[in-house]
Amino acid sequence: MNNNLDGSSPARGVSAIAPKEGGGFPNPGLPPHSPRQADLSKPAEKRAERVVAAMFLLSVIGTIVFIAAYFLVTPLGTNIFAEEGSSSALWWSNLITGLGFAVAVFFIGAAAVHWAKTLMPDEEMVEERHDIRSSDETREVAAGIITDGLEESGIARRPLIVTAMVASLTALPIAVLAPLSTLGPLPGNKLHHTFWGQNPRQRLARDHDGTPIKLSDVAMNSIFHVMPEDLTSETPYHLEERAKAAAVIVRIDPKLAKNEESMAMGVDGVLAFSKICTHVGCPVALYEQQTHHMLCPCHQSTFDVTDGAKVIFGPAHRPLPQLPIEVDDEGYLVAPGDFTEPIGPSFWNIHKDK
Ligand code: FES
Repeated sequence: MNNNLDGSSPARGVSAIAPKEGGGFPNPGLPPHSPRQADLSKPAEKRAERVVAAMFLLSVIGTIVFIAAYFLVTPLGTNIFAEEGSSSALWWSNLITGLGFAVAVFFIGAAAVHWAKTLMPDEEMVEERHDIRSSDETREVAAGIITDGLEESGIARRPLIVTAMVASLTALPIAVLAPLSTLGPLPGNKLHHTFWGQNPRQRLARDHDGTPIKLSDVAMNSIFHVMPEDLTSETPYHLEERAKAAAVIVRIDPKLAKNEESMAMGVDGVLAFSKICTHVGCPVALYEQQTHHMLCPCHQSTFDVTDGAKVIFGPAHRPLPQLPIEVDDEGYLVAPGDFTEPIGPSFWNIHKDK
């Protein structure tokens, strides 16, 4: 056993390493290289090669399962395992697409690791520290090492693995692109119209209970949340239609009106406006009776009802679109047509500062 530098014996359980003459310690060297099965036996090498290729091909199968499930096991449309639109259809869709994608990604990683551990050279190497920029000679050597490495990795000699790897890496992006094929359809002119325009002279009905509203029901400074009377749960895409058609009616003293054009679209001070904020579409559901301002709770856009719901504060750029209203023979409020302009956030062909 070596002694400590001062000549004393090392503590129990601690072995001292003798210092090299002139300072430092002797290079302990590398442990002896132990060859792997595939290094020693040709059949073992072939077996490892087939395992790697099989993993890449399992990845391809995972990708195919994902793509097939994306179109055949959908949550709302075709589903070969469950009834269309049911909750178990969603469960099956998530399960199979998730498993397919997981298998596709997992086996690419597993194949790469197995390839590296069983077939690629694993001899330990030592590289001495050197200046950051190598000499030209060293760079040439490095390029040679890379070339040799490629040679030794056997890429050129293992066409089976390379073909399987290329297949798996080519197939995987297709799984990512598959969902793009189901985007759409384009909205067409759906953003320009609401259910009010589909069926002219519909009555304005209370949101939720659907009862129509008479002019005489609307007290001064009151507010009602309204929907088209004909819009029911039987209407196709009724949730989307409700989201677009939502409106509010308020009654103000006509003497307060600052906007004659807006007042002309109402009846006796009863005015109807879209409830969808022209900023990013929150419901404008707060009404200040004293100021006649409507407030959007999301970012505090404020609209002046006495002035055609113009924006007086906040990030919205357009007034709330107004819904012209009239009174039918029985005294109920009706809408002769659609809003004066598209509802909701401004988009590409709506002037932002209108
Ligand atoms: S959504 Fe109404 S202010 Fe932003």
